[in-house]
Amino acid sequence: MTSPRKPIRKAVFPVAGLGTRFLPATKAIPKELLPIVDRPLIQYAVDEAREAGIEQMIFVTGRGKTAIVEHFDVAYELEATMSERGKDMAILEPTRFTPGDIITVRQQVPLGLGHAIWCARAIVGDEPFAIILPDELMVGTPGCMAQMVEAYNEVGGNLISVLELPREEVSSYGVIDPGETRGALTEVRGLVEKPPVELAPSNKIVSGRYILQPEVMRTLENQEKGAGGEIQLTDAMARMIGQQPFHAVTFNGRRFDCGSKTGFVEATLALALERPDMGAEVRAMAERLLAR
Ligand code: UTP
Repeated sequence: MTSPRKPIRKAVFPVAGLGTRFLPATKAIPKELLPIVDRPLIQYAVDEAREAGIEQMIFVTGRGKTAIVEHFDVAYELEATMSERGKDMAILEPTRFTPGDIITVRQQVPLGLGHAIWCARAIVGDEPFAIILPDELMVGTPGCMAQMVEAYNEVGGNLISVLELPREEVSSYGVIDPGETRGALTEVRGLVEKPPVELAPSNKIVSGRYILQPEVMRTLENQEKGAGGEIQLTDAMARMIGQQPFHAVTFNGRRFDCGSKTGFVEATLALALERPDMGAEVRAMAERLLAR
């Protein structure tokens, strides 16, 4: 049964990380603006939020990340020139926003994902909110956040998206201790960040999408550093289990870890192969390269 809940109107996009795995590319260009074919990662993330009915996009940015905000601004000279030349501007449509719906805050020092989220506390206020990590590209119909909002409308509380990995690969991620499972929903009994394989409570990893209650901000406020010397979101969420409902949604779709180089290349190839305007050409090219 669905019950009326406070709708999810705001999404936080933490984009203040250093992107060291992509240096030197990310020395002057934010990782979130690297394109998969012709759309930057941040655009995929924002489109996913919009599809889920979210209106306000909150970017937690840092030094050297202002180009992300420019991407969602009106590029007057570009538009005027394109219009004079009779070019179709539909391609720019997803970069347009109602004034006031793009909000930025700065994380002055990248102290970790948990700290980045906490930087958005004043804008999130007293509402449940979504978090989307743009370097995890989720491809599905409907999109991952839309699937999560649907689950939220059913069970409320806190939700994280999870996917299953071979057990030996889980130690780079947040891992859930699963309770009862019903369809795509699994009760979360515990969460642990980057556990050694032998101590991992399951093979279900947290995959970059969250719907959280605003109380998480107070938990983050008093939090000590965790794994990697960073303020971890996983630790703050773990402390909320038992106080509020907490579920995992197994995403029905594909996920590409675009924070890693191989994941980025895989996403580029997969999406290019599926594009009607270039798929056949890319396939022929890949076959030629493999035949060498
Ligand atoms: P990552 O762990 O992928 O870190 O952060 P990173 O710094 O971006 O990349 P590497 O590991 O150095 O290559 C996951 C997400 O959290 C954000 C990142 O921007 C990314 O979207 N983040 C991380 C912050 O906003 N602030 C932080 O302090 C840490």
